[in-house]
Amino acid sequence: MTDLQAIVDDIHRELAPRFGEGKVADYIPQLARVDPKQFGMAVVTVDGAVHLAGEAEKAFSIQSISKVFTLTIALGKHGEAIWNRVGREPSGSAFNSIVQLEHEHGKPRNPFINAGAIAITDLVLAGHTPKEAIGEVLRFMRFLADEEDIVIDRDVAQSEQATGYRNFALANFMRSFEKLSHPVEHVLGVYFHQCAIAMSCRQLARAGLFLAASGTNPLTGHRVVSHMRARRINALMLTCGHYDGSGDFAYHVGLPGKSGVGGGILAVAPGKASVAVWSPGLNRNGNSLLGSIALEMLANRTGWSVFAA
Ligand code: DON
Repeated sequence: MTDLQAIVDDIHRELAPRFGEGKVADYIPQLARVDPKQFGMAVVTVDGAVHLAGEAEKAFSIQSISKVFTLTIALGKHGEAIWNRVGREPSGSAFNSIVQLEHEHGKPRNPFINAGAIAITDLVLAGHTPKEAIGEVLRFMRFLADEEDIVIDRDVAQSEQATGYRNFALANFMRSFEKLSHPVEHVLGVYFHQCAIAMSCRQLARAGLFLAASGTNPLTGHRVVSHMRARRINALMLTCGHYDGSGDFAYHVGLPGKSGVGGGILAVAPGKASVAVWSPGLNRNGNSLLGSIALEMLANRTGWSVFAA
């Protein structure tokens, strides 16, 4: 039997000399202040075993990882109709790229690049005030993680609100193509707050467990999404979850994953476990450098892969 705790401990120990590698996201001033030497990892298996290493209990800014959960909410509210608003293809460009959006008349390539996630947040906002929509996303995270102790870091949200020129450009651009139904300020207000949710690796791995277990949280018994929907969300994470680093992530790790510029990555080993890693230093695609390596080590040592039995 695989000793998962030993594997997680080994990864933590072997990577320790490299802590601090990569470059923290500095375009959001509040994230630029994070100590890059931190590292945490949590593996939660479908039968409820929890394996932690490093700073697995320390909350960090989940940033783009929130896009998996707003996509889940939007699918629940609007079903397959969301695909009229965003595509399902890898973009092959940066997470905040604007060029493709003009060519494709304001319809973002996928729900995980910033433009696509902003369009999804617009769908989450339907029938709500911005405050209610933020509350809905936060409640969903607490429900999935089965913990009340999850909050939004207001300083991070405000920091991004004050400097998010590119996201304002993307949102205004989409609005000019009539691809957003709500005022840009409202949509981005919700978007910046969902990105500023702070969670630990342990909480995040628990929140993602339904994706590893055919749509049902195996620990609480709650069905979150159907089997087919879980499978499809995983497919999108695999093809688009790491932007133009998605191919590389699939090659090296071989599991659906979603990164955030806070340095977190949520990865899903279907039928096995949900994994969260956090290391703030990023690679050139804006994905956690050591987080990606840690997941590659984990996949190699456990044999977990969606490409091989
Ligand atoms: O919108 C942004 O730029 C950030 N709130 C989130 C971007 C992000 O996490 C990209 N992921 N690696």
